[in-house]
Amino acid sequence: MRAVVLGSAAGGGFPQWNSNAAACRRARRRDPAAAARSQASLAVSADAHAWFLLNASPDLRTQIASSEFLWPSEGLRSSPIAGVVLTGADVDAVAGLLSMRERQPFALYATAEVQAALAGNPIFDVLSPDCVERRILPLDRPAPLTGVGGYDSGLDVLAFPVPGKVPLWCEGGRDPGVHETGHSVGLALAERGRGAHVFFVPGCAAMTPGLARRLRGASAVFFDGTLWRDDEMIRLGVGDKTGRRMGHMSMSGDDGAIAALRDLAIGRKIFVHINNSNPVLLEGSPERAAAEAEGWTVAHDGLALTL
Ligand code: MLT
Ligand code: MN
Repeated sequence: MRAVVLGSAAGGGFPQWNSNAAACRRARRRDPAAAARSQASLAVSADAHAWFLLNASPDLRTQIASSEFLWPSEGLRSSPIAGVVLTGADVDAVAGLLSMRERQPFALYATAEVQAALAGNPIFDVLSPDCVERRILPLDRPAPLTGVGGYDSGLDVLAFPVPGKVPLWCEGGRDPGVHETGHSVGLALAERGRGAHVFFVPGCAAMTPGLARRLRGASAVFFDGTLWRDDEMIRLGVGDKTGRRMGHMSMSGDDGAIAALRDLAIGRKIFVHINNSNPVLLEGSPERAAAEAEGWTVAHDGLALTL
């Protein structure tokens, strides 16, 4: 299986359009120690021919333009993208679907909750039902990933609820709290008949014993790297929400991701969905050094793994 990071930043990207913080200024001026990053998405494939996107970020159009393996190569209209699998309906996971509206067949996998959110928003009707097949992703049961017309990717996907919340645009002005439902899932990808398991968990509010059991021994885990510390945005004066309120656990601390995944015998641990406030984005920062010393890779756009 191939897994390619199309985008590694959290919602807003790095630099974020309206951020004048020092790190974003450096990224904007192309400081090589503050490399710009687009919003989080992965591409996975078993045959390096047809690809499935894990989330469709608002930056999808430019992500495709900078990834030759996703360029059309057959006839006048075609795409190697056979489908999209969603972990939630957050803007940074679904807005890229609006860039896929040019009558190209593909399969759109999402849980019943996420499909209901999309169905309830008519802007997504630009994905014509005679081209785009919306398929319900079951929870806790592996499903084969197939394209429209029966193309079999050779990959199975398993979706499982992780502590998280409903999308911000569905909150209705209230704190919805953290729950484990189909609104916020992790994905496990497996190449049928082979051992490698790749996890994609771009949003996770807390580690649970069940999630730790699932991740144990995985070949690779792409995990929520939104914040270094829970009150980071408040301390920097760029927001009034904690990571927990936004449905994200932090990297550092006793209840952070670094500690939670430390002893799980995971082959590759990779942070994705990294917020522009997170100092791990800066090469040479003590936080980057601490994460790497714990065996983590801080993803950059274009990072590719063969498993
Ligand atoms: C998140 O990851 O917390 C969301 O993407 C926030 C948002 O929808 O802007
Ligand atoms: Mn997000």
